[in-house]
Amino acid sequence: MSARQSLVAGNWKLNGSRASATALAKEVADGAAALSCDVLVCPGFAHLADVQATLADSTVALGAQNCSVEPSGAFTGEVAAPMIAEFGAQYIIVGHSERRALFGESSALVAQKAKAVQQADMQPIVCVGETLEQREAGQLQAVLDEQLDAVIDQLGIAGLAHSVIAYEPVWAIGTGKSATSAQAQEVHAMIRAKLAALDSEVAAGLRILYGGSVKPDNAKELFSQPDIDGGLIGGAALDAKSFLAICAAAS
Ligand code: PGA
Repeated sequence: MSARQSLVAGNWKLNGSRASATALAKEVADGAAALSCDVLVCPGFAHLADVQATLADSTVALGAQNCSVEPSGAFTGEVAAPMIAEFGAQYIIVGHSERRALFGESSALVAQKAKAVQQADMQPIVCVGETLEQREAGQLQAVLDEQLDAVIDQLGIAGLAHSVIAYEPVWAIGTGKSATSAQAQEVHAMIRAKLAALDSEVAAGLRILYGGSVKPDNAKELFSQPDIDGGLIGGAALDAKSFLAICAAAS
C-alpha cells in the first residue's frame, strides 16, 4: 500500500466553450465530492475564470495545460505562470507530447517551464514518454533519461518533491490503444528507480501518473499497479461520467 495520494487530472486540451467548460466543471465538482482521490481539471486559458468560479467550494483542483518560461515582459501571446496562479490554479501541465511534437518544445524548455511553475508556487505535471518508433528501436530508457535529466538539472532532485510526473507513451495518446498495465508499470518503475538512485525519499513520495487512452474500463487495472499513482486523461475527461468513473477507479 503506497502512501502516495492518487491524482486524476483531466486535460481538456483545445476544447469547449465558456458554457460547456462551466457545465463540465459543475458535473465533475458534484461527482467528485464523494471521491477520495485528488481530482484536477485543466481547461484552456480562456476558460480558467469560469471554471475557477464553478469549482469554488468544491474538492476539485484547477490547473492549466502550458505556460511561458517568462514571468512577464515583451513576449506577445504568452501566458505567464503567475497569471495562471491568480486563478487559484495549483498545477500546470508542461511538456505534453503535443507541445513537444507540434510546437517544437525541447526538454530544456520544458524543464524551464517546470521551474517557472514552481517559482509561481504551483506544481508542474511534467509529461514524458516515447514514440512507437523510439520504443521499437530500443530507445525507451534513453528517451526517458533525456527528458527527465533536463528536469533534474533544472529543479534539482529535491525540486521533484514538488512536482508530478506523467508517463504518456505517445503511441497511446488519443489512439484508443492504451499501454497494458504491465507495460505502464514497467516504465513507471524505471522512472522511480532512476530517481531513487538520486534520492530514495523523493522517489518514494513522487506521484507518477499514466496517460494515454485511459478509459473507465481500463482505469482500475492501470491504477492498481504499484507505481501508477493516477492518470492524466484526455478524451475521456471531456465526458463527466467517464471522467468520474476513472476517478472512482483511483479512489
Ligand atoms: P487521451 O490523452 O486520454 O485522449 O489519450 C491523454 C493526454 O493527452 O494527456
